[in-house]
Amino acid sequence: MRANGPLRLGVLASGRGSNLEAILAATTRPDFPARVAVVVSDREQAQALERARRRGVTALWLNPKDFGDRAAYDAGLGRVLDEHRVGLVCLAGFMRILTPGFVRAYAGRILNIHPALLPAFPGLHAQRQALEHGVRVAGATVHFVDEGIDTGPIVLQASVPVHPDDTEESLSARILVEEHRLYPEAIRLFAEGRLQIAGRKVVVRAAGRPGAGAPASEASL
Ligand code: GAR
Repeated sequence: MRANGPLRLGVLASGRGSNLEAILAATTRPDFPARVAVVVSDREQAQALERARRRGVTALWLNPKDFGDRAAYDAGLGRVLDEHRVGLVCLAGFMRILTPGFVRAYAGRILNIHPALLPAFPGLHAQRQALEHGVRVAGATVHFVDEGIDTGPIVLQASVPVHPDDTEESLSARILVEEHRLYPEAIRLFAEGRLQIAGRKVVVRAAGRPGAGAPASEASL
């Protein structure tokens, strides 16, 4: 556990919130080194807000219409996160592109989950893109957020097979199982201070061995 208490997470979500639920479940375990401090959505009806409230976590709707432009929205977002003393921002199905100013302000402290083996199939409908491309293997990626779309340094990945009879729904469901496992694991590694960004790569330090590192792809899950 960190000297100054558990890492405080701010989770941004636009929809269903199943990744948020996985994070909430993990963070309620007493030995988990992070807690969700606040959940913010750009959509009033996001199921994610309801999931957070059910668990007694502060859940806020930040309406884009209340802000003049994207920069103003992100400044408002930043104020909320700062008020809640957030140390790590987790994008969990947050369907807005963050402005460069926001990304710079939280550099190295924003994670995203994407339902593809990046750098393949960034952007929207990743599972559909994978099916249409005819790949045999798909998967999920947790990565640090930089100013591009799904381009930041990769923390963890997991693969799943693509079956000949897969639909977008069946493939998405198989990938989602991996997403729910990967995201809490990546948060735990960050909270334990074991992630180091080195250019395009993320080095994952072995537990209890500060300084010793192995590329993330070699980290065992
Ligand atoms: C997840 O599959 C996540 O990987 C994806 O949206 C879904 C959100 O589901 N994110 C992206 O496609 C971002 N480019 P959830 O609301 O149930 O967590």
